[in-house]
Amino acid sequence: MPQLFHRRSNTLVRMGLVLAVLVAVATGVALDRLQRAPWVTRQGEQPAQPVSFSHRHHVQGMGVQCQYCHVSVEKSSYAGIPSTRICMNCHLQMWPNAAQLEPVRQSWMSGKSIPWVRVNDLPDFVSFDHSVHVNKGVGCVTCHGQVDQMNATSAQYSLQMEWCLDCHRNPAKNLRPASEVYNMAWRGPSESRPVWCAVGDEMSGMPTAESVNCTVSDPLARAVLNATLTTPSSMNGGRVLVAVPTYEKFTSQDELGRFLVNHYKIRNTQDLMSCEVCHR
Ligand code: HEC
Ligand code: HEC
Ligand code: HEC
Ligand code: HEC
Ligand code: HEC
Repeated sequence: MPQLFHRRSNTLVRMGLVLAVLVAVATGVALDRLQRAPWVTRQGEQPAQPVSFSHRHHVQGMGVQCQYCHVSVEKSSYAGIPSTRICMNCHLQMWPNAAQLEPVRQSWMSGKSIPWVRVNDLPDFVSFDHSVHVNKGVGCVTCHGQVDQMNATSAQYSLQMEWCLDCHRNPAKNLRPASEVYNMAWRGPSESRPVWCAVGDEMSGMPTAESVNCTVSDPLARAVLNATLTTPSSMNGGRVLVAVPTYEKFTSQDELGRFLVNHYKIRNTQDLMSCEVCHR
């Protein structure tokens, strides 16, 4: 019965093929998962540090601004890890004998910097620039999470290509007024918490976020209040005449995002997604 034999072997071959494809797909999925696994990307890890520095105590507790320690974040590609001198601005006087600060004092005395362990670290073939992001209204919290609440610093996101692209594809959903970049609690505009923005001098042609002014308190109400406080009501018959620059009111992130993309002069999606942007 050669015919039957043939058919059976065909079926076997076909089943083998199907199986091979299944195995290939499964391996692919597994490798994909593996690449994304937190222990590969080090997302969420809290590496042991030479000093148990707490952002929670220093930022949330004492209100020290991010840029007091990460001095170059607005000006260069690196945010920078603070030098021991910045710590000693306070710790020469505050807690001068605390055991926890011994490595800091040693570093100060020897002039050797504290060997902090990096938690966010991109491969060398990727170019990244803090100043570009920060000056175009991307908040620290969007990429680093609520650092102000961390006792031990950890990476909030994977920093993998897909994560970068997710924002570059549509930055509008993540843009905020440049004045809110350090605000860890910013939630974006809503009906009950609108944001007003006015565009200043755009004639200079500089593609900068600085020419956009935003505020979270109603500019018209503020102007009226100021005018009432400074103008005696006998003048202009008790009526208040005020000149308010043309503020636009926003009640959703969608609207605000579109406005900011426009006035921050953000490049189009195609440009921001092109390989050369991040791989030069
Ligand atoms: C603006 C002043 C100031 C600066 C700058 C500062 N500290 Fe502190 N630090 C304090 C104060 C105040 C405390 C006590 C906080 C508490 O107990 O609530 C403290 C506490 C600490 C502690 C004890 C553990 C803790 O968090 O309570 C460590 C460790 C520490 N600081 C390390 C550093 C390092 C490292 C730097 C530099 C990167 C630094 N500090 C910069 C004011 C400062
Ligand atoms: C008093 C100084 C100080 C202030 C203020 C401060 N930081 Fe830091 N930051 C440090 C030190 C020291 C380290 C390195 C040790 C660590 O990772 O905890 C660090 C590390 C980090 C890292 C991880 C760096 C890496 O290894 O990839 C991020 C992200 C960060 N800070 C963000 C912020 C943000 C956002 C703010 C404001 C909300 C802020 N920091 C305020 C001192 C400070
Ligand atoms: C668009 C995302 C993004 C924003 C916004 C952002 N960071 Fe970062 N940050 C990163 C990435 C990515 C790295 C890792 C860079 C590397 O490995 O070269 C990093 C690294 C750091 C480091 C480690 C030192 C360094 O310069 O590499 C610190 C500190 C830091 N960021 C602080 C901040 C602060 C403070 C802000 C807000 C003013 C901020 N970052 C805003 C993505 C961001
Ligand atoms: C939350 C949004 C967001 C995330 C996340 C983000 N970016 Fe960006 N990126 C932007 C915006 C907005 C710009 C400014 C575009 C403009 O001005 O046209 C930008 C610009 C850039 C530029 C251009 C710099 C230049 O020289 O003009 C590079 C490079 C870049 N991003 C790399 C990265 C990398 C690498 C990552 C991931 C590690 C990343 N970005 C994550 C929003 C983001
Ligand atoms: C917005 C920034 C950004 C853009 C645009 C971008 N990449 Fe990447 N790319 C990254 C980052 C970040 C990594 C590192 C990922 C990691 O550490 O796992 C990366 C990694 C890679 C890798 C190494 C393999 C891997 O997955 O880790 C290759 C290959 C690559 N990119 C190719 C490309 C190509 C081709 C394009 C254009 C179609 C492109 N990239 C566009 C940010 C970008």
